[in-house]
Amino acid sequence: MNEPVVLGIETSCDETGVGIVRGRTLLADAIASSVDEHARFGGVVPEVASRAHLEAMVPTIERACRDAGVRLQDVDAVAVTAGPGLAGALVVGVAAAKALAVGLGRPLYGVNHLAAHVAVDVVEHGPLPEPTMSLLVSGGHSNLLLVPDVTCDITSLGATIDDAAGEAFDKVARLLGLPFPGGPHIDRVSREGNRVAIDFPRGLTTGRDLQRYRFDYSFSGLKTAVARWVQAREASGEPVPVADVAASFQEAVVDVLTRKAVRACREHGVDDLLLGGGVAANSRLRALAQERCDDAGIRLRVPRPGLCTDNGAMVAALGAQLVIKGRDASRLDLPADSSQPVEQVRA
Ligand code: KG4
Ligand code: ZN
Repeated sequence: MNEPVVLGIETSCDETGVGIVRGRTLLADAIASSVDEHARFGGVVPEVASRAHLEAMVPTIERACRDAGVRLQDVDAVAVTAGPGLAGALVVGVAAAKALAVGLGRPLYGVNHLAAHVAVDVVEHGPLPEPTMSLLVSGGHSNLLLVPDVTCDITSLGATIDDAAGEAFDKVARLLGLPFPGGPHIDRVSREGNRVAIDFPRGLTTGRDLQRYRFDYSFSGLKTAVARWVQAREASGEPVPVADVAASFQEAVVDVLTRKAVRACREHGVDDLLLGGGVAANSRLRALAQERCDDAGIRLRVPRPGLCTDNGAMVAALGAQLVIKGRDASRLDLPADSSQPVEQVRA
């Protein structure tokens, strides 16, 4: 089947996403987010997210079908994020997808959330070069992936060993009195700040650390360094230069992210780098990645921000690629796997 109509469901975190694609054409991308319900806790509360998915699921499926001009009977296959993610949240999506697949008599594809972040770019920029290098940075993950074939062959070159990049943005934003989620606010206030004002540490970039953790990331030391700097400033009675702290922190994060991603491309002979995840919306990350890719002769692909954050279209896009490449469907008793390894594209 060249142009399968695939409905994809995503519920791994706080977004209930239902996307519909026909082959590589995006027909609908309906989203309901519970982010506002988590704001006062400063982070996603799993039980609240699960309940919100349950309430949003049917209306979001209906909206996606309406937007796409597609009836459920027109759907050729159902895809769903099986993991990794919040266990209770994943279960809601997987149960809904199973019900749809059984009810419609269509195959079910349980897919990997990270692989879906990579696959989504086919609807924006066309077929993925094989291999592609992918830097995925969000509130839940920071991964550097070598992707020879997004439907069956993904290798993790590195990942964060502590906080995810977006988590670091959110925690530092909180420290600076900015609202949750903090990434967009840090991005905004940084425009008024000096990114070389404070020389914050670049984790795992020198000496033995670089050998042992060649393509891994660490942001918890950076977060502590920012906290200490702000405390010292407050203790001395001086005002905290929020824009300078934000810009210098942001620079430390994106410097390490892009440096390691470009090095991974060079060392593995890969000419294409794809960004994904919510932090890929960061304006400084995009600018520095473009600059460094240009210098290294690497082509940079960045899906538009709505496709970088969690959404259903990415799951549908990967599902369609699996159908097109003739990969086997999942079993109907497929489990949600909160720690599904990235190498496992299908559940
Ligand atoms: O992919 P996403 O919507 O959800 C998951 O975490 O899976 O990513 C959300 C994360 C949050 O940590 C948020 O602060 C961060 O992405 N983020 C940003 C920006 N926009 C969103 N971080 C830095 N700069 C931004 N412009
Ligand atoms: Zn994600």
